Amino acid sequence: MKIAIVGSGYVGLVTGACLAESGNNVVCIDHNDEKIAGLRSGIVPFHEPLLDAVVLRESRLGNLKFTTNLGEGVHLADIIFLALGTPTGIDGYPDIDSLLQCVDDLSITLQHDCLVVVKSTVPPGTCEAIQTRFDARPAHPSGRCAITVASNPEFLAEGSAVTDFRMPARIVLGASNEIDARILKDLYMPFDPDGTRLIEMDLRSAEFSKYACNAMLAARISMINELANIAERMDADIGSACQVLKSDPRIGPRYLEPGAGYGGSCLPKDLRALIRMASDKGEPASMLHSIEQVNRRQVTLIYHAIEKYFWGCFQGRCVAVWGLAFKAGTDDIREAPSLTLIQALLEAGAQVRAYDPIAEPAVKTSLVHSELVLAGSAEQACVNADVLVVMTEWEEFMTPDFKWLASTLRSPAIFDTRDLYRGKDLNAMGLRHYRPGRIFATRPGGKPLLTGAPLLTAEVLKPPKSIS
Ligand code: UDX
Repeated sequence: MKIAIVGSGYVGLVTGACLAESGNNVVCIDHNDEKIAGLRSGIVPFHEPLLDAVVLRESRLGNLKFTTNLGEGVHLADIIFLALGTPTGIDGYPDIDSLLQCVDDLSITLQHDCLVVVKSTVPPGTCEAIQTRFDARPAHPSGRCAITVASNPEFLAEGSAVTDFRMPARIVLGASNEIDARILKDLYMPFDPDGTRLIEMDLRSAEFSKYACNAMLAARISMINELANIAERMDADIGSACQVLKSDPRIGPRYLEPGAGYGGSCLPKDLRALIRMASDKGEPASMLHSIEQVNRRQVTLIYHAIEKYFWGCFQGRCVAVWGLAFKAGTDDIREAPSLTLIQALLEAGAQVRAYDPIAEPAVKTSLVHSELVLAGSAEQACVNADVLVVMTEWEEFMTPDFKWLASTLRSPAIFDTRDLYRGKDLNAMGLRHYRPGRIFATRPGGKPLLTGAPLLTAEVLKPPKSIS
């Protein structure tokens, strides 16, 4: 099939590359000249495992092309995917302006029958609105062509996007008629070898299912974080409780890691959007509000734990931070808890030396605090630092030289927000170890670890502006 993808960002590029390798003829379109020039030379503008290789191979084979010209890109395409960003608008509602602009441009450009498929995360009703817009376009001198709109939300996760696309857990197809549904089913046939992954539905339900999924994922994370905080107050181990939860088939083993809270480009944005949409419809969505509230609090708990460790004073203190990306496997720092924490530490007067194996360029080009020092290696970040905070679960942070850390850190302690060192007796190696559910006062053998430092409570300490 001949396929055009409008928007060569994260979703668009992965979709284009993977559809090209499954035997289609794909053109990826983007208005950013620099990005398209780079892609034509095989440069993927972000870090995503496996993607470079697929882009390079499919480009060489001639199955994948790139252009900035919309008319040229969509020429005679059987299917046009819209994969444009839908960021949070000023009213909290998803901003679909670029999507609608693209629809208007296509209305003028298209002169052949085709199926337009919305991949972007959009409020329910958007596909219908787009269909209405296409239907209202003035007739072309050469006659009116048939354009229909379908919904096919994307569920891939950063860091595993290519694998997720190749072996999806499910493929959601929202279509308004049998013909469109058939076209999409044929397209996705190679990704559904056992015939169990295609879920067909109407347009609005398909659009909604993306929000529902992300809300449920966010709920799981906030729930496990809240349970970790309660476990800590009750002197129970959340890690052990997690083992029990994961063994229950009704709950399932994944997405139950307590930590600094969820970040990234999807979960926070989509939850906000769903809250806003619910409120417009008169639904209080109180649980969604709570999920967000718990998530925001989580990083403040880490901040307060470090603050407490320093007796409430950050002057002259240096904090090493390992990991800036919102999770391992990506260079994405959007809504990363690490940045919220770093901002608060710097505002409170601490020095921060951070290291991330992949996300450093993204940090340099973003508006992160100018006083943040980026270190060239994990070890370098710790030289002259008082404590270490591990924010991202990168493989290279899994087995550090603890003895070296104990002798290098000036006030040896690791705030292990990803629970990477669970089961290791760091105390025996001279390091205090703070883990999720053990942030305020770790008590190996029942003894409080915070010897010397006064045990202030989070409520007593006033958070800085950016973290309140
Ligand atoms: C998410 C959804 O998983 C994906 O289906 C959707 O298409 C886009 O949003 P992504 O943002 O790439 O994908 O990351 P994900 O792996 O879901 O993690 C989101 C956040 O939750 C990260 O900050 C991660 O560190 C955190 N997380 C995840 C936890 O804190 N604990 C967990 O157990 C799982």
